[in-house]
Amino acid sequence: MSCKLISLLLLPLLILTILSEADKALGSDKKPQVSYHNMTSLAAAGEGKETLKGRKQTSGCNLFQGKWVFDASNRFYDSSTCPFIDDEFDCLKFGRPDKQFLNYSWQPDSCTIPRFDGEAFLNKWRGKRVMFVGDSLSENMWESLGCMIHASVPGITTTFLRRTPLSSLTFQEYGVTLYLYRTPYLVDISKEKVGRVLNLGTIESGAGVWKDVDILVFNSWHWWVHEGVKSRGWDFIRNGSSLIRDMNRLDAFNLGLTTWAQWVDQNINTSQTRVFFQGISPTHYAGKEWNEPKKTCNGQMQPLTGSTYPGGSLPAASIVSRVLSSMKTPVYLLDITTLSQLRKDAHPSTYGGNGRTDCSHWCLPGLPDTWNQLLYAALSM
Ligand SMILES: *[C@@H]1O[C@H](CO)[C@@H](O)[C@H](O)[C@H]1NC(C)=O
Ligand SMILES: *[C@@H]1O[C@H](CO)[C@@H](O)[C@H](O)[C@H]1NC(C)=O
Ligand SMILES: *[C@@H]1O[C@H](CO)[C@@H](O)[C@H](O)[C@H]1NC(C)=O
Ligand SMILES: *[C@@H]1O[C@H](CO)[C@@H](O)[C@H](O)[C@H]1NC(C)=O
Repeated sequence: MSCKLISLLLLPLLILTILSEADKALGSDKKPQVSYHNMTSLAAAGEGKETLKGRKQTSGCNLFQGKWVFDASNRFYDSSTCPFIDDEFDCLKFGRPDKQFLNYSWQPDSCTIPRFDGEAFLNKWRGKRVMFVGDSLSENMWESLGCMIHASVPGITTTFLRRTPLSSLTFQEYGVTLYLYRTPYLVDISKEKVGRVLNLGTIESGAGVWKDVDILVFNSWHWWVHEGVKSRGWDFIRNGSSLIRDMNRLDAFNLGLTTWAQWVDQNINTSQTRVFFQGISPTHYAGKEWNEPKKTCNGQMQPLTGSTYPGGSLPAASIVSRVLSSMKTPVYLLDITTLSQLRKDAHPSTYGGNGRTDCSHWCLPGLPDTWNQLLYAALSM
């Protein structure tokens, strides 16, 4: 017993020592010049810290390390009875014939996820506000949580408002509101004389709205790699005083996310607000990542087996780990990247109702329900 206790106390020290050595090896620059290829070594340091953080926060269980198991009981709602699902996620409505993708549940190696109880959630967070902030992957997760809660309290009264940038879903009897704040880069896009400028150093547009929310779940990445002036939504990038046409997008993400981190550190009172980062949601357009070089998510009916993704980790996820571990505010990383990488079967593919192949978002019901189970677990542990 006491021996266990001592090693429990010493372990973090040991890891911290190793990490600070790693930091030295990387140079102590506050803002290292990060190139795409160099992310691997930085990732090693960042992920080490993240593991440490995860352990502290979930009492011994890493919720995000595990495997998918067949489980026909893991459904939270029917798509036809949830009024909040956008067409692009409503795969069954648009005729997805195989339903096996609905029959998997995530099993962490070292513990069991608590059963999701929407009524308990509403009771615990009575009168509170939950906000998802980010891009359409936030929307995916927001709608999922709405459906999960809605299905667990029959007859509950809801008010559902879709607006740009702020949408809301209120569960009236409990005064709980789930918000969605759409801002794909988190940092600002400002109008300047030259046109629309993605300003890596400012985060004013939504910040006033986020400030006093009880639970914040941030996410950003997918738009950072958008090509083409139309789909990316900006004409120039501003990094401090320099206005540039374009730059390495991982570098841009790193700078933008660092601005976000500074905002959180300066503005969030952790005795009022719990802060989460949703983690990087992967895509499945490149079958070579899972050794089916000619394929995409199209026609995939099963997850990958095992606990690791053959295509490896994502550089953007390493940036997230590293930025979060440099913050003074404890931000809980919902580290959904690997578990989602294993779900090549869970995208809308051609069943998003718009004629395109979507290997980026996720069907509802589906994978985002697991993200919310894990959010629920993190809030209860
Ligand atoms: C990685 O960074 C180091 C400096 O930290 C540099 O010397 C090296 O050339 C970089 N490698 C690549 C592949 O960019
Ligand atoms: C999935 O589970 C449901 C029960 O929830 C069952 O009726 C169905 O046959 C299962 N589908 C497959 C493909 O195993
Ligand atoms: C961004 O600006 C900072 C400060 O002006 C500079 O040190 C850095 O090199 C710039 N980063 C990129 C990727 O252009
Ligand atoms: C943070 O919130 C707590 C609880 O509401 C309050 O007592 C405290 O003064 C706040 N701290 C700051 C720095 O505003």
